[in-house]
Order: sequence, then structure tokens, then C-alpha cells
Amino acid sequence: MLLIWHSPVTTLICTPMARTLFVTTALPYANGSFHVGHMMEYIQADIWVRFMRMQGHTVHFVCADDAHGAPIMLRAESEGVTPQELVARIAAERPRYLHGFHIEFDHWHSTDSPENVLLSQSIYRTLREAGLIETKTIEQFFDPVKAMFLPDRYIKGECPNCHAKDQNGDSCEVCGTVYAPTELISPYSALSGATPVLKAAEHYFFRLSDARCVAFLKDWTLGSAPHTGLPHLQPEARNKASEWLGGSDAAAALGDWDISRDAPYFGIPIPDAPGKYFYVWLDAPVGYLAALKSYFDSGRAQERTGTTQTFDEFMADPATEQIHFIGKDIIYFHTLFWPAMLKFSGRKVPDQINVHGFITVSGDKMSKSRGTGISPLRYLELGMNPEWFRYYIAAKLNARIEDIDFNPEDFVARVNSDLIGKYVNIASRAATFLARHFEGAVLPVADSADWQQLGAAAVGAEVRAALEARDFARAVRLAMAFADATNQYFDAQKPWELARSETQRARLHEIASVSVHAFQSLTLWLKPILPELARAAEGFMGCGPLSWTSLPTLTRLNAYEHLMTRVDAKQMNALLEAPAAGSAASAAPRTPAGQPSPATPLAPEISIDDFMKVDLRVARIVAARPVAGSDKLLELTLDVGEGTLRTVFSGIRSAYDPESLVGRLTVVVANLAPRKMKFGLSEGMVLAASGPEAAGLYLLQADSGAAPGMRLT
Ligand code: MSP
Ligand code: ZN
Repeated sequence: MLLIWHSPVTTLICTPMARTLFVTTALPYANGSFHVGHMMEYIQADIWVRFMRMQGHTVHFVCADDAHGAPIMLRAESEGVTPQELVARIAAERPRYLHGFHIEFDHWHSTDSPENVLLSQSIYRTLREAGLIETKTIEQFFDPVKAMFLPDRYIKGECPNCHAKDQNGDSCEVCGTVYAPTELISPYSALSGATPVLKAAEHYFFRLSDARCVAFLKDWTLGSAPHTGLPHLQPEARNKASEWLGGSDAAAALGDWDISRDAPYFGIPIPDAPGKYFYVWLDAPVGYLAALKSYFDSGRAQERTGTTQTFDEFMADPATEQIHFIGKDIIYFHTLFWPAMLKFSGRKVPDQINVHGFITVSGDKMSKSRGTGISPLRYLELGMNPEWFRYYIAAKLNARIEDIDFNPEDFVARVNSDLIGKYVNIASRAATFLARHFEGAVLPVADSADWQQLGAAAVGAEVRAALEARDFARAVRLAMAFADATNQYFDAQKPWELARSETQRARLHEIASVSVHAFQSLTLWLKPILPELARAAEGFMGCGPLSWTSLPTLTRLNAYEHLMTRVDAKQMNALLEAPAAGSAASAAPRTPAGQPSPATPLAPEISIDDFMKVDLRVARIVAARPVAGSDKLLELTLDVGEGTLRTVFSGIRSAYDPESLVGRLTVVVANLAPRKMKFGLSEGMVLAASGPEAAGLYLLQADSGAAPGMRLT
């Protein structure tokens, strides 16, 4: 930020002022492992945080597990563990992903924590004192067997419009009609199967329709951060908020927000309201503050900054900026509820909500809970370099709310031809000449006309602005154009010819020195994206950590060691193919026949509800053929009684001759998410048995008479 004071006598221009930032990413639900969508969000924020730190700003970067809510409670129950145990198990996985991708949060906490209870209840009390909480009695579906009120997603029934069976409580997947759960014909509880009954209960509401809230939100959603003058919201988010705030009658458009849930619920008790808990979305964003508080209370925040500020002092300090990174699906909560909660509980309101789009994999949308075909953990296990992924994400991200696609070919091309072929290549080419002819000595280049012509300073200023504005794609484009220019310069000078002539030594030395300084600038610009590569490059250049304020002149290089390897197509294929290549059998362990071995232990017990989630259908194999390029897979064309045919890739090639399968009836997991594989889309999974008991693979077969599409129950 450039500060300009207009005094009567002079205009004073200062260099950027050090800022103090509190930065978060959305708190992930604690009932599932991370998927690439999570990793993308963390990488985006991590790059920005690293960049801001390199500018000399102080950043506190925290996150937490979003632990509460009905889905987590019910999943824990079905696994026979407490919600706390479930949350702890998932939390224990987190560091592998975060460290694996060089994502450096200062602190990771949980919404199921004493800090969050304290803060959520205290915010609620202030809202109540401000007259913004009221109670209303509402009628809702209640499951008489489970003795609990049913969230919409746990109510199913027949569509009132097209009469399709087994539709969700909010809309019909067949005809697309949206309705209230009470409109379903023959509704049933997805938890117990029982018919739900309507039951009245008192609920607590946050009065968002109050004139004060409406006025504040109209103002805030259009407003700008005091420190930077930057809008709180990106244009797309601002437009959405304006739509929600609905023109002339915003109060009606907003409505009041139901913030209570009845026991049994895994959540924070509402003060003075026995049996009532905060709805998870009330205490979830408060978790941002709880995480920061826990970080300050640990003393580590103060250690980092050398201050004695407490959490409360930090949050009351007008210098503190509050910035949230989130995905586009949770804009509503972060642009309406959350700022209003903060404002009317007398707290600092967010300075910026940075919203990103969704990541798809080869064009496939992924479900929030299920993730996509590529697993971040699998990526790491395959020994793929996490910085390839960081670079690829950076090359795709800008400051707008646009979806990005992970495309395997594009990934390989960008990493191999740009990152390695352009950037890393400069170091290896320059190093070769400097080591062979000058014992690694580097000339200063400040006065070199060649150096000036490359224009690193001007490009650097643009890269810096792009990184600050979260336009990482532009930063990467600028850097790659500069790398291109450097490589062209190097080629045009033909250093290999100069090396043959004793009289051209000085010229050769200059060219290699200019090139390695260009590499140094590139390393600085890419450092927030590629922290480990930058560290290795700094070691090679012998120049200590790079900073934007002063780039040290290089004097002597250390021995060049390969800075980064290329993506191997085999690894990429393995990432896309495994695990579970379209068939349960292909992922099963194999033991050589005849060797004694224990039977595979049983999986943990499940409830009938869990089992009913798996939709098993009879399928007729209409065609079967081998898959070129795979010695494991067969491509099956299946009739599952839907009027159209499905394609399923199954790892049964070693056991079956394709022709012998045609016409057979087998069993398919029909509601399995389609999976994009290298060879095409797999729309389900056929069941086959395998195990240590006997060698081989055994496809399941339905008795004759069964018809395609019949459900197995
Ligand atoms: N628990 C809530 C957030 C509470 S914040 C106070 C939640 N959790 S989530 O695990 O479902 O999502 C966490 C973040 O991941 C959200 O910002 C969400 O938008 C983001 N993503 C989920 N799927 C995504 C993609 N496919 N692509 C990019 N980000 C995505 O929502
Ligand atoms: Zn319908």
C-alpha cells in the first residue's frame, strides 16, 4: 500500500507500510478427508500468505476442523464411535496433506473447542442484548424411531410432481421440481425408514431482517477495506449479495436466520435454552476467531512477532486486517451472516472475502463430500512433486470466481515445458558454462547493457502487483515470458561457440552471468509458489534467502544439482487409474495360491442404513472388450435397465476372456460416482470376489430369470 499524506507544505510518499493480517481458509468439515478442492484453496491462500510475508507484512494464518452438525453426529453413530473420536481420527490425517503440499498454517484448531464455546456463546449473548434474537415455533418433520428432528437431507419420498420414488427432501432429481419436505408423498426417514411426523418446536432466530442489519449489509457488501481501499467483495460476489439483498424489500428477501437445533445434536449449547444447540453454521465461522485465540493463547503468535498483544487486543487493534479465503458455494454465509454477526456483537468486520471457483478434474464436477478421481494423498504416495501441483494451480488461478480444471495433459505440459523447460533450464545452462570455464564465479551485471535490456526490474514490479492481487496466473505468465526472453537471449549469443575462442571469454562470462541473474529474479518471483525449489536454488546460487527489497549480487555458484525432475507420464497414469480401477477386485490384495494366509478381516460393522446407501443392481453384460494400453482392464458395456447402456472398466482381464462374458447377468454398484479414467468414464463397478482363500477373480452372477435393473436387497 502506498500512503500519501497531503500536508500544506509537502507531499510525502512512503514505501509500503507493514501490514498486520489475520488470514483464514474455510474450515473443512471434519467428517471427510481432504480432496483436491481443499488443497487448491489452501495452496491459493498459502501462496498469498508467503508472498505477503516476503513483503515484510505480519501474517497470522490459521484454520480448524469444522466439527459440529448432524452429518458428523450421524456418521459417528453409524461407526459406533463418539463424534469427538471421529473428528480426532480425521484431524490426525490432516498434517500429512498439509506438510506434503508445503502448506504452512500457523495453527490448526477445531470448532469443538473451549475457545469456540466461549466465543460463540458470547457473540450470541451480545446479539441477544442488541435485540437481534427472537424465538418462533415452527413445525418440522420428526423421526419417531430415532427421536430426532430430521434435516431436509434425511427425508425422502415420492416427488409430488412426477411421482418418482426415493427423492430428496428439497428437490426431485428426475424432474427438477423444488419443494418443501412436507410436500413429499409418503415421506420416510432416510435414517430409520420410519414415516416422519410433524412436530412443533421452538427455534431461535437471528433477526437479519432487522432494519439495522439490512442497512449495515447494504453498506458493507458495497464497501471497501479501510487499510487498502480494496472492495470487501469481488465484483461477482458483490452482485450476488446485491441480488440477495433484493432491491427495494431487502428485509423480506433476507428473512430471519434459524440458528438453533434441537437435541440430539453435536454442537454448542445455546445459553439459557436447555436442549437447544447452535446450528453448525453459527459456530463454524466463529471457529476462525477460536483458532486465532488458541494460537495467541499458546504464546506462539507473540513469539513470531515479538509483541505481547493478547488475542483480544489484537482483534481490537484497528491495524489488524481480517481476510478470509473461501469457495463460491459458501458466499452467502460469509457475506451476510458472518459480517452481521461480527458487527452487531461489537467486533471487527472482515476486510476482504476472497472467493475462488471450484476445481474439476478433466471436466468432471466432484461432490463436496466425495472428492474427485484424484486423491491428494495418492499423489504424494506416488512420489509426485507437490510443487508441480502448486505451480499448476497457481498457473490456473486468478482473482475472479472462475472454476478451474485439472487436466492431466495440460499439467504435464506446463510442468515439463514451462516450469522445467523454461525456468529450471536457465540455471542448468548457465551453470554449465560458469562451472566449466570460470570455476563458478559470477560477474556483477548491474552495469551490463544485456541485463538492462532484459528488464527484470520492470517485470518484477508487475509480477509483484499480480501476486498481491491474487492474479497468480498472470504472475506465472509474466515469469514464463521473461524466462522465454532469457532463453532466447542465451541461444542468440551462442555461448557454445564463444567458449571455443579465448578472446571471447569475457563475453561468455557476461552472458552466463546475466542468465544466472535472470534465474535469480525468476526464483524470487516464483518463491511463494515453489518454496522448496526456491530454497534449493538459493543454495545453488549461494545467495541466502531472497527478498523483494534487495536482490544480492551473485558472486560464486555452488555445484549445480538437478533442481527438479520432469513429470513422468507413468506416474500421471497411476494417479488417474488407481485406486480401485473400476472394480473392487482389482484393488484387493493377492496372495500366491497355496500359501497359507489368514482370511481378510471383516470391515467394521455397518447399519442397514449404511448398506441401503449402496444401490446394487442386476446388469447384463452386452459387450466386453480388452482395453488398449492396459493389461488389467476390460471395458464392459452394461444394460442396467435404464434404457441407455453404461460403460464400466473392470480389472478382471486376467481372469476372463471378454467373449465369454457377453450375455451374462452380473451385479453392479449402480450409484457409484462416475469415475474419469485414462481410458474413458467408468459408470459403476461390477462385483467380483477375490482373496487369499483361493487364487483368481470370480465375477458375481445373478440367477437366470433376474432382469437388468432389479435392485439387490
Ligand atoms: N465447513 C464448511 C465451511 C465453514 S467455514 C466457517 C465447508 N466445508 S467443506 O469441507 O465442504 O469445504 C471447505 C472449503 O473447500 C470451502 O471453501 C469449499 O468451497 C471448498 N471446496 C469444496 N469443494 C471444492 C472444489 N471442488 N474446488 C475448490 N474448492 C472447493 O463448506
Ligand atoms: Zn419429480
